[in-house]
Parts: sequence; C-alpha cells; structure tokens
Amino acid sequence: MSDIQTQEDLYLLVDEFYKKLLADKTISYIFTDVVKIKLEEHLPILVTFWSQGILGTGGYSKNLTQIHLDVNEKEYLSPELFSIWLNHFYNSVDENFKGEKAERIKTQALSIATVMQIKILNQKKEEI
Ligand code: HEM
Repeated sequence: MSDIQTQEDLYLLVDEFYKKLLADKTISYIFTDVVKIKLEEHLPILVTFWSQGILGTGGYSKNLTQIHLDVNEKEYLSPELFSIWLNHFYNSVDENFKGEKAERIKTQALSIATVMQIKILNQKKEEI
C-alpha cells in the first residue's frame, strides 16, 4: 500500500469516504435531507480542499467552519455525528493508503473537527 501522492489519490479517498457516509443512516440524512449535496460537484471541492492541506496546492478559499456552522443551524452537528464522520474518514484512509501523508490527513481532519466542535459549542452558548 502506498501513500497519498496525487489529486487522483485524494479523489479515490473522498469517493470511498462519501460511499461510507451515504451508506450509514446515522449520518447520511445530513447530506441527503438537511443539505442536498450534489456529489459530482461536492467531491471535486473536497479534493481541492485536501490537496491544499496535504499536497500544498492552492485553490480553496472558503470559510469551512462557517459553512459547517450554517449546517449546524439547520441540524445540530452533535459530538456523535463528528465521531461517526471521523471514524469513516480514518477507515477510508487506512483501507487505501499508508505513509506520512496518510497520517497527516487524519491528524488534520481531527484538528479541524475539534475547532468546528468548539465553534458549535460557542454558538450554542450564545443562544442561551
Ligand atoms: C459531523 C461532521 C460533519 C458533517 C455532518 C459535515 C457535513 C457537511 C455538509 C452537509 C456539507 C455541505 C455544505 C453545503 O454545501 O452547504 C459539507 C461540506 C464540506 N465539509 Fe463537512 N461535515 C462534517 C465535518 C467536516 C470536517 C471535520 C471536515 C474537514 C476536516 C469537513 C470538510 C468539508 C468540506 C471541505 C466541505 C466542502 C465545503 C465547500 O463547499 O466549500 N467536514 N460538510
């Protein structure tokens, strides 16, 4: 098994990851009912995002945390949902890649998920 090296590798990764998310009823409704994502538009955005973080290319300039705070306004993104999301992400990486970048992408996902959850908690506090 080799490491993540190209954007094609990242495409394979996010494709496998979304197959898992969409096959899991405990989280799929977020992507099919709360926000109706169009997979053919969504996956290339994910590749650009991860390519920036892992392969050092540019191209992603949106505020990712704000996008998720907006989703959270529609449907609470609970710690359980984050845990399910991270588990599917880790498994998708581990089933396909091995190496320094494969480790780094999992660490980055965890860091970003942690920041998102702190912001979500702060948003809840403001509502009280
Ligand atoms: C509970 C966990 C999560 C859920 C349910 C979730 C759900 C979603 C949804 C519904 C969208 C589409 C938003 C829209 O188009 O309006 C989205 C976009 C996205 N998510 Fe997440 N997300 C989660 C965690 C994360 C984490 C931890 C990361 C990164 C490490 C991430 C990366 C992305 C990216 C890159 C996009 C594309 C944003 C764009 O269109 O520019 N997500 N997510």
